[in-house]
Amino acid sequence: MVLAVEWLDEPQPMIRLVDQTALPAEERYIDVTTVDVLVEAIQTLAVRGAPALGAAGALGVAVAMGQGAREGWDAGRLDREIERIRTARPTAVNLAWGVDQVRDAVPHGVAEVLTRARRVVADDESANRRLSALGADWILARTGLDQVRVVTHCNTGALATSAWGTAYGIIHELHQRESLGLVYADETRPLLQGARLTSWELMKDGIDHVIQADGAAASTILRGLVDVAIIGADRITANGDTANKVGSVGLALACARAGIPFVVAAPSSTVDLGTKRGEDIFIEERDSDEVVAFAGVRTAPEGARGFNPAFDVTPNDLISAIVTEHGVVEPALTPQPDLLSQIAG
Ligand code: MRU
Repeated sequence: MVLAVEWLDEPQPMIRLVDQTALPAEERYIDVTTVDVLVEAIQTLAVRGAPALGAAGALGVAVAMGQGAREGWDAGRLDREIERIRTARPTAVNLAWGVDQVRDAVPHGVAEVLTRARRVVADDESANRRLSALGADWILARTGLDQVRVVTHCNTGALATSAWGTAYGIIHELHQRESLGLVYADETRPLLQGARLTSWELMKDGIDHVIQADGAAASTILRGLVDVAIIGADRITANGDTANKVGSVGLALACARAGIPFVVAAPSSTVDLGTKRGEDIFIEERDSDEVVAFAGVRTAPEGARGFNPAFDVTPNDLISAIVTEHGVVEPALTPQPDLLSQIAG
């Protein structure tokens, strides 16, 4: 099994990341012993996906401490470097959350930080496995079907987490229960997390799927080709609004029109009760080169400008279910200001 984020003690203490910019063509790794390398890996999406960013953030504090010890940083410098990791990408709350899980252990030494960071990693896998079972139960009960055909967006599998996956974990669970029909994986422009990463994971797991252009998804839903949409989340606010990869809200609108469930799956570390509603989420805007060029080659006319928000927000009334390891809430049915406290952990 390929781990997105792994701590190694030998040959030297470091994080090893599988470089997700190179997949599926090449399986290569990035060894992280400095904050600069980690921040660059996060910003270039070599490591990506909200829960994987949480793991990288927590372990990243140990990397910063190791570098600080080698280079003689004072406490102020160490704090600033940890903050650089914490804010390397803004939308997925898990990155800051992961750093915050270990940060107050810094005065107790790197061994204590690592113990806590390893707990973040282990807890993520168990949360994902639990929410996958809960999500599969909910979907089969809601649809009343023996087999469900699924549309998904972006990548939410083991690569996006510490292990197993969130929305992908539900798909895998349905597959293991022999309750899964065809999966439609959105290619996920502009960086193709669906076509490159989700398809790679589905192939490895022997799950029957097709890759579709993002622009095909609404029509696939309205034509009755799928029974449920299952996606992940980067941040879930207190009222049940969710941010996820750009394109997600389009799926939600089409599902509402077609009358099929739109399911958001995430560990409770993605729930941000401190943010009241979706409008308050800071949406990362990435370099416009990602949309005016393809695979490094310019495709748009010289001078044409791109607009590249990496995420969008789905309002709670379009979300049939939010699943965490603690349970399922149904925002579209029961919109309440404190809805998420039930499953926030
Ligand atoms: O820009 P990315 O690839 O980090 O975006 C990832 C997503 O939008 C995922 O759907 C989300 O983080 C959930 S991953 C389990």
